[in-house]
Amino acid sequence: SDSSDKSSDSSSSSDDVITVGFSQVGAESDWRTANSQSMKDTFSKENGYDLIFDDAQQKQENQITAIRNFIQQEVDYILLAPVTETGWDTVLQEAKDADIPVIIVDRMVDVSDDSLYTTWIGTDALCEGRKAAEWLNGFAEAKGIAASDIHIADIQGTIGSTAQIGRTKGLEEGVDKYGWDLVAQQTGEFTQAKGQEVMESMLKQYDNINVVYCENDNEAFGAIDAIEAAGKTVGSDIANGEIMVISFDTTHAGLQDVLDGKIECDVECNPLHGPRAEELIKKLEAGEDVDKLNYVDEEIFAHDDTVKSVKATNSLDEEKDFDVTPLT
Ligand code: AHR
Repeated sequence: SDSSDKSSDSSSSSDDVITVGFSQVGAESDWRTANSQSMKDTFSKENGYDLIFDDAQQKQENQITAIRNFIQQEVDYILLAPVTETGWDTVLQEAKDADIPVIIVDRMVDVSDDSLYTTWIGTDALCEGRKAAEWLNGFAEAKGIAASDIHIADIQGTIGSTAQIGRTKGLEEGVDKYGWDLVAQQTGEFTQAKGQEVMESMLKQYDNINVVYCENDNEAFGAIDAIEAAGKTVGSDIANGEIMVISFDTTHAGLQDVLDGKIECDVECNPLHGPRAEELIKKLEAGEDVDKLNYVDEEIFAHDDTVKSVKATNSLDEEKDFDVTPLT
């Protein structure tokens, strides 16, 4: 854990230096590590920033403490990657009262008053879930697999986080729409260790699981280990005993697993929010208006070209076609 990583370069004294306090969720996944790196690379001393980085170890109370510290230090901007959606009203009101703009990054906040934050940049987790569900339906139709023969285990993300809420909802909509069998649902907390533990216990409890819907790549890595340790095979031949893994993030290791046929479909969640957050800050510095919600466009990768594209509705209620990139 890098909980001691509260690095701040206070040596900069120039008035042009912009001080940014970033409250990061933690270091639970490869995605998160890439996200932290992107923020650190962008908000560097060379680029004219003084970054105060705080790793909250997946605890909301740590994030609230970090934000209060940022307010006390009179930072110019607060960046917050919130662990869950709720519970932010009080501390964000404190930031507002101190006139410090707050930029929400990655996951969203659910607050009673939207003026408690300035803007949000992140991914459309509901659309991601819908893309994965539509891909599964397309795959099953192409292979002639009946909906009632699809038995899904859902290894959920951190309960109450935007990424979990959206991806779980996308799957559940697919279950309702197509009639798949949702065998089990449990959180793997977005970590490899917990993903493995949950998969192990689900395999012991149910003998018919043939699709594992992992709500991020690290859970998928753990689930794959558990499946193989149980003497089963990951793959797409679900009518003949293989267990298909669907995942999110498209980390380097995740895409390697797609290439190797261990993950059948991986829906992108892009972690490189540093430059995007900086663009928002530059606009705010220039006194320009910024959009309240800034969704990042993302892709889908699959092990083969069975499904060429999927239609899914995003959180802005627009139905869109998304091409699937095969990694054969
Ligand atoms: O909020 C984004 C999610 O958080 C990513 O999918 C996951 O890997 C991370 O921990």
